[in-house]
Amino acid sequence: MKQSLYERLGGSENITQIASDLTDLHIVNPRIAARYANSDPVLVKKQVSAFFIAGTGGPDNYTGKDMIAAHRGMNIDNDEFMAVLDDVMQALDMNGIGQREKEEVLFILYSLKSEVVYL
Ligand code: HEM
Repeated sequence: MKQSLYERLGGSENITQIASDLTDLHIVNPRIAARYANSDPVLVKKQVSAFFIAGTGGPDNYTGKDMIAAHRGMNIDNDEFMAVLDDVMQALDMNGIGQREKEEVLFILYSLKSEVVYL
């Protein structure tokens, strides 16, 4: 049987590392860093890794907000959305993730766009 995306990303341990690298990239990415100025990186990493794990077919321990509630009132624009996707692709590269899995992650995140931008 085909392995889940969660398994092909290396399971919870590897996804936790990907989320950590991703958050570190956001914090230094000049296109979006200001958005995270008042965030606790430890908490962001925890929430984002739990969301990622649940969303790729792993155990669902996500206790954070849904995407609309998490981003409402921020008025995030398309360029900022692209900046986050670029950081995700870089974090996947940093952790040795293959092209097929990168494409699947990109598709899932793109499908959430309307729950993140211009809210
Ligand atoms: C599909 C794309 C995205 C996903 C899956 C996503 C996911 C998440 C998750 C899981 C949280 C945590 C919610 C919680 O704490 O309850 C969060 C918070 C947040 N997101 Fe996103 N996000 C996306 C795009 C963006 C974009 C484009 C921006 C703008 C730069 C952004 C900025 C933030 C900020 C500032 C927070 C709050 C962090 C905090 O609580 O300190 N997100 N996001």
